[in-house]
Amino acid sequence: MLTYKDYISKVKNINLKRETPPLCYLHSFGCQQNVSDGEKITGLLVDMGYGVTGDLRSADIIIYNTCAVRENAEMKVFGCVGELKHLKEQNPELIIGLCGCMMQQKHIAEKVQKTYKQVDIIFGTFALNEFPKLLFEAITNKKRICEITENYTENQEEYNIVRNSSFKASVPIMNGCNNFCSYCIVPYVRGRERSRNSSSVLNEIKQLADSGYKEIMLLGQNVNSYGRGLDEKIIFPELLRKINGIDGDFKIRFMSSHPKDATQELIDTIIGCDKICKHLHLPLQSGSNRILKAMNRQYTIEQYMEIVNYARSKIPDFSFTTDIIIGFPNETYEDFLQTMQIVRQVKYDNIYSFIYSKREGTKAAEFEDFTSFEDKSRWMRELLQAQREISTEHYKRFNGRILSVLFDAESKTEGYISGKSDEFIIVESKADKTVIGQRKSVKITRTFNWALQGEIID
Ligand code: SAH
Ligand code: SF4
Ligand code: F3S
Repeated sequence: MLTYKDYISKVKNINLKRETPPLCYLHSFGCQQNVSDGEKITGLLVDMGYGVTGDLRSADIIIYNTCAVRENAEMKVFGCVGELKHLKEQNPELIIGLCGCMMQQKHIAEKVQKTYKQVDIIFGTFALNEFPKLLFEAITNKKRICEITENYTENQEEYNIVRNSSFKASVPIMNGCNNFCSYCIVPYVRGRERSRNSSSVLNEIKQLADSGYKEIMLLGQNVNSYGRGLDEKIIFPELLRKINGIDGDFKIRFMSSHPKDATQELIDTIIGCDKICKHLHLPLQSGSNRILKAMNRQYTIEQYMEIVNYARSKIPDFSFTTDIIIGFPNETYEDFLQTMQIVRQVKYDNIYSFIYSKREGTKAAEFEDFTSFEDKSRWMRELLQAQREISTEHYKRFNGRILSVLFDAESKTEGYISGKSDEFIIVESKADKTVIGQRKSVKITRTFNWALQGEIID
């Protein structure tokens, strides 16, 4: 039986016969984990002889790596795929592939097969190894192929990863989720939780540090439950300490942490390790115990606040960010006000808020919902307004202070570049583009409700 590597060679041989190397375009929707998968798929494409392009129109193969977390994420994908129809008409040789979380849902894969005839290849989140074979068949047989398996066969092979950045790297340390929050599709499309061996994680990070990467982002749907199910005995704070011990000029971030697994040991480790950014993304979802229970979040607001208060007892302005869902089925205004109360109490540096979106197949999709969309939208506006006021006030604490900032992009403000402080706050400075990719000390001189501005001092 041929392995995926055999199919990589077969496609490569076909591509080598072409006058110029064909080009691939890949876009990942959704979370960092998906973006990280996208880097592996691009790696496979490069192994198969493709060059990478950021221009859709010049591509010989277009891959959309999709996200299913909310309805609007899916609508975005359908919109983009619809627009490819005319490209395919102009160039029938163009190969179009859809993969990732959305495709792992049977009803979506069927809809794509039925409605979007321009799509040649469909594969889910478990079938990265199958991709070279699917592509080979699509090229040689010119037939449309769909491969959605639910069997995850642990991939011990190390992929060639084509990273999107030369100074920030994502490193998945676990995949899947066992939590089954009642609103969430992720456990259904990503399967059960699987942690990577610590030696494999540490080796990858050593290589990244040696190549000069300045920031390592550890990824997992529930990073802080890392280690469960592994033969070796290791928990997340221990892994963090080992990574902190690796030589190199880099900082460590991680997401997402689940409050039920956030321990004092985790906070102590963040504070005690010089390479770990003093910031925790701790999704709250709701400030109402009634709603948290219906969401199956497995913590109470009191337990959540215990961890926040513990961190703040050690570092008074320890930075927290969070995710909030507005309008879970039958949420009342009183429930929402409890969320607002926690938001005001914690003083998050940033919140990512979403209106509840019904996901077919989840438990919450069976709940009747009497809360109107108008109410949900109004509450959302109230929350955003409150958060703007909170961050305006809370960001003032940085005025005059010196923050460590990794610059990663040009700013929209002419002549400025932008980056993230350790606290995960946007910082802008007047500087040349050549500073992008470097970590600098910045003295904060101005604060807004969405960012800070300052002068690079060294
Ligand atoms: N594993 C991570 C987050 C995964 S999804 C965690 O547990 O924190 C990212 C965010 O999307 C979630 O934190 C939640 O706020 C939001 N989300 C997930 N499902 C949703 C849904 N059905 N409707 C609205 N928001 C949702
Ligand atoms: Fe979804 Fe909950 Fe798992 Fe996060 S922890 S991925 S919200 S089921
Ligand atoms: Fe979306 Fe899948 Fe991530 S559903 S949020 S891309 S795990």
